Amino acid sequence: MTLTQAQSPPRPGASGRLVGKPIDRVDGGAKTSGAARYAAEYPYPGLAYAALVHSTVARGRITGIETAGAAAVPGVLAVITHENAPAMKPAPPMSVLNLSSLATGTRVNYLNTDEVHWNGQPVAVVVAETQDAALHAATLVRVTYEEFAATVGFTAEEPNAKPQKSDMLQSGSASKGDAEAALAAAPVSVDLRFTTPQHNHNAIEPHATTAVWDGDRLTVHEGTQNVAWVRDHLAARFGIPAGSIRVISPYVGGAFGGKTMVWAGTILTVLAARVTGRPVRMMLTREGVYRTVGGRTPSAQRVALGAGADGRLTSLIHTSVTQVGRVGGGPEQVTSQSRHLYDAGAILVRQSLVELDTLSNTIMRAPGESIGTFALEAAVDELAYKLDLDPIEFRMRNEPERNPIDGKRFAHRMLREAYALGAERFGWSARTPEPGSMRDGRWLVGMGVASAYHPSWQLPANVTVRLSADGTVLVRCGFHEMGMGGATAQAQIAADALGVPFEAVRVEYGDSVLPTGPGAGGSGQTASVAASLLTACEKLKRSMLALARRSSGSPLRGRRLNGLRARDGGLWTEPGPGETYAAILARAGRPHLEVAVGSDTRVGAMVGQARFMAKFLRDRRRWMKAACGAQFCEVRVDPDTGEVRVSRWVGAFDVGTVINAKTAAAQLRGGIVMGIGMALSEETLVDPRNGRIMNPGLGEYHVPVHADIPPIDVCYLGDPDPTMPLGLIGVGEVGITGVAAAIANAVHHATGRRVRDLPITLDKLL
Ligand code: MOS
Repeated sequence: MTLTQAQSPPRPGASGRLVGKPIDRVDGGAKTSGAARYAAEYPYPGLAYAALVHSTVARGRITGIETAGAAAVPGVLAVITHENAPAMKPAPPMSVLNLSSLATGTRVNYLNTDEVHWNGQPVAVVVAETQDAALHAATLVRVTYEEFAATVGFTAEEPNAKPQKSDMLQSGSASKGDAEAALAAAPVSVDLRFTTPQHNHNAIEPHATTAVWDGDRLTVHEGTQNVAWVRDHLAARFGIPAGSIRVISPYVGGAFGGKTMVWAGTILTVLAARVTGRPVRMMLTREGVYRTVGGRTPSAQRVALGAGADGRLTSLIHTSVTQVGRVGGGPEQVTSQSRHLYDAGAILVRQSLVELDTLSNTIMRAPGESIGTFALEAAVDELAYKLDLDPIEFRMRNEPERNPIDGKRFAHRMLREAYALGAERFGWSARTPEPGSMRDGRWLVGMGVASAYHPSWQLPANVTVRLSADGTVLVRCGFHEMGMGGATAQAQIAADALGVPFEAVRVEYGDSVLPTGPGAGGSGQTASVAASLLTACEKLKRSMLALARRSSGSPLRGRRLNGLRARDGGLWTEPGPGETYAAILARAGRPHLEVAVGSDTRVGAMVGQARFMAKFLRDRRRWMKAACGAQFCEVRVDPDTGEVRVSRWVGAFDVGTVINAKTAAAQLRGGIVMGIGMALSEETLVDPRNGRIMNPGLGEYHVPVHADIPPIDVCYLGDPDPTMPLGLIGVGEVGITGVAAAIANAVHHATGRRVRDLPITLDKLL
């Protein structure tokens, strides 16, 4: 089956000369031919290999660690434990005023303590001449523990959940009116419990680090979503200036949030390189990723909805319990979408947390909304059935004009249009609402729908743009490429802004020596870089214009500038006013002209951060900004085995301007694929006796394979968001939201069964 489907063209006006076009990735050839180098592929003379030894208890103290057997393995260079490891500094305290402090994966000072805080915590590192020797020797390290009582069961701990505190970045609760009273008074209502399991990121490239010390200077090759955070975190832990560290990460083989924080493997590779005086590489095994990189929280959610007979919501309640590790992790915004999707008379959302002796949770594609939309959108479907209303009609009756809780304006909201577009392409009108009423031979056929929703935001991004006399343009910004096509999109934007050919633009990214970029997260990278890049291009055009006016021989010499504001593609190339960038630079005798937006000096960075916080808070007061969409799916359920196959998908999205029709569709489609995994198979199983993950690998943690995925028709409205750079909203995460609910709703339509506990495995349908 093919994943390639026709895209609906963006509306005219939303695209530029290049923006909007389905341009091939600039690095596609390098990636498919193997020329692209990932973190574990940098050769160094004398390179050594490291492997981790993981604790087998959830909480306790190491009483003995026997390393002789490991040390005796031929080729072993060092066995590093808490008994011989050099001191590292503790993780810096978390503060929203220092964003890189958010990079702390866990607060454990690895190998600097005999304490164990989760089952799987690294307790030793073996360094050897070969990968095989390191892995083998690691199995020979014998550790004994004094075990302490540990709290590891999410469900058992749920009654002890504590309300989430609000901070500058997120709020743990919100309300309008008395939602409980409105619910009690509602003529039609549902009051439902949903549960979702822990999920783990399974990037195609497991986490890997290559670390090289040269005196007090450190080079780290790392697949990361934030080179600056890795640099700053390592500086804090190893007590050296950030300026002495270079983090190089041009290619990241998928991440989904799992490569945003700095985890044990990275820190311990750097430590191992320091101890052995050798360049050291650590490639985590898949199991090593599960044991040392946090996953998505499990959740328990209540969604209660009340409506009048007219199908208007009078009450919406959404509460959640999620998990954090005692050593780190944070709240996931499970109720986020419930604050914005429906115009209910009264609303109550509240998030609570349990703290467990487990590895920190961490962000994973649409943290919060991916599982929050499952509960909300499945509950909405149940209520629509009770009201005997088509679920799309129900949503249209409750679509708000303004943000429901506080009346803020939506920066952009075309959910109605997304439903109309999706319903048309999907053929929703052919659906007969009665559960079990549609069949194809022996298969029960079901059709389901759900809303997608993900907030959008922007981070600071420092950018330089250099225009050279040969007509080439160099864009430099330390952003990240984990598969999204970031460099391609930014090259399109720069080429349009400057009026140069796409091929003339080169983009450098993924390196901490570059101007500090945004992290790849929160679906905000493209907009963040674009905002600064557009400013830089404007600045560059003005500087060129000024240079031309001063140079004798330019057709622009002495000309008034008022009418000459540079327009996309117009000013400098034919049929412009007969002046070109190359001629201006040649006449001025300059090899190039470069402009910068943002500064990486100490003061510059502080100013940048203060500006970001001010803009973030101002934006949040003025607008509700988000991407949204409508997910349509068709499933087939085997009535005898309960097997669920997803047979058709249409996703219609309001994501503002689409920069690259090919890569954006791939992002949205990838989110839907991941959502299908969440709905039907993905589940991290934690042993309730000892907190150990029981299925740390793809053999037993099932992600969808190609044969599980139907053709996915992704379409979008293409209407620009006037509050965002070029009108783009961000496509990384909205695709996964609503997916699990659409499937659960389709399964109900096929079978009459409501499964409110993910994943929807066949045992739950028999
Ligand atoms: Mo995403 S979870 O912000 O990488």
